[in-house]
Amino acid sequence: MLCGGRSVANPAKQQRHLAVHCAKMTSPAFWVEVRALAGRSVMPLLRSFFIGLSRNRGMRRFSENSTLGARLSSRFVAGMEIEDALRVAASVNRQGISVTLDSLGESVTTDAEAHRAAEIYHRLLDEIAARKLDAHISVKLTQMGLEIAPELAYTVVESLARHAAAIGSFVRIDMEDSSLTGATLEIVRRLHAQAESQSAVGIVIQAYLYRSQDDIEQLMGEGIRVRLCKGAYKEPASVAFPRKADVDANYLRLSYRLLESGIFHGLATHDEKMIAAIREYARQHGIAPSRYEFQMLYGVRRDLQRDLVRAGYNVRVYVPFGREWYPYFMRRLAERPANVLFLARNFFRS
Ligand code: FDA
Repeated sequence: MLCGGRSVANPAKQQRHLAVHCAKMTSPAFWVEVRALAGRSVMPLLRSFFIGLSRNRGMRRFSENSTLGARLSSRFVAGMEIEDALRVAASVNRQGISVTLDSLGESVTTDAEAHRAAEIYHRLLDEIAARKLDAHISVKLTQMGLEIAPELAYTVVESLARHAAAIGSFVRIDMEDSSLTGATLEIVRRLHAQAESQSAVGIVIQAYLYRSQDDIEQLMGEGIRVRLCKGAYKEPASVAFPRKADVDANYLRLSYRLLESGIFHGLATHDEKMIAAIREYARQHGIAPSRYEFQMLYGVRRDLQRDLVRAGYNVRVYVPFGREWYPYFMRRLAERPANVLFLARNFFRS
């Protein structure tokens, strides 16, 4: 059963369950009813529901192996193969938009898996150079072995950072859940301290964490480039602002600090209110659009991406690809549960 998060032994039956749930959620009446029943509190519930699903191993195994899942995920995922991602990157570049490529996968459990994951990124860097793409890479440390041994992740990513530096590209270290924040910061600081990779590595900071203001001050002091996002994981109130209004307020506070730093940072959001406020703050403080970039996800708010480019802003799109798309996809649904409606409508139309 899908909603209960339990797996069903029979794949055909599970596929039927998935289709029935999708069909139910495509009905506008379903969403009207949900809103009426739960009023404004429905969004946190749906968010928790999708975050819960993102950790469901049975659903993950089933979805990643099903053609239905692959079709649904294609809105947010460039494809299953490196070549798909490179083709999308070239087409995004043609629209005047930069790219960061993400080979999907997280939480590897063996050294060999970590090295295999890194090998894909080395191939990407070679192709970025060969095809002269305006692209860099985004890497998750748990995919590079962080949960096996921090030293393994450090060594693997150091070789990626050297490779990126050699071709004038860049490695962005994504931020995962708060149990990994300290270890991630430590590895990025060590990489940044190395002359060979200094210019080629940056980090992600999440505005929902209380600690982020202090982290940003320290990172700016060291000259480290930051991508600021709101944060995509489920965190307890002991470490993260539970209210969206507080996350938004902190996002703006931290954005302004980053803009003032004179370092080239990425401001990752699809929130028009945040973007308008950042543009206005930069204008008032004489900070040129060339001194920072907006970042968005592949498949999300393409209209806004194009508008920003037309208005003369740098935009970078995060392009994920690969067979391990399920947790990433569920986090996108958690951010905006109405995407289920949108996806399913398109699915049944096509
Ligand atoms: P928010 O969730 O506040 O919503 C505001 C509006 O944006 C919505 O009303 C809707 O219009 C639009 N919107 C937002 N999400 C949408 C979606 N999925 N589909 C359609 N519309 C949507 N997180 C993290 O924890 N670690 C990381 O390393 C990264 N990396 C990262 C890179 C890039 C380039 C981006 C854009 C985001 C991330 N994130 C991330 C995810 C981030 O933390 C956050 O969960 C999402 O960006 C959603 O927050 P927003 O500020 O975009 O909008």
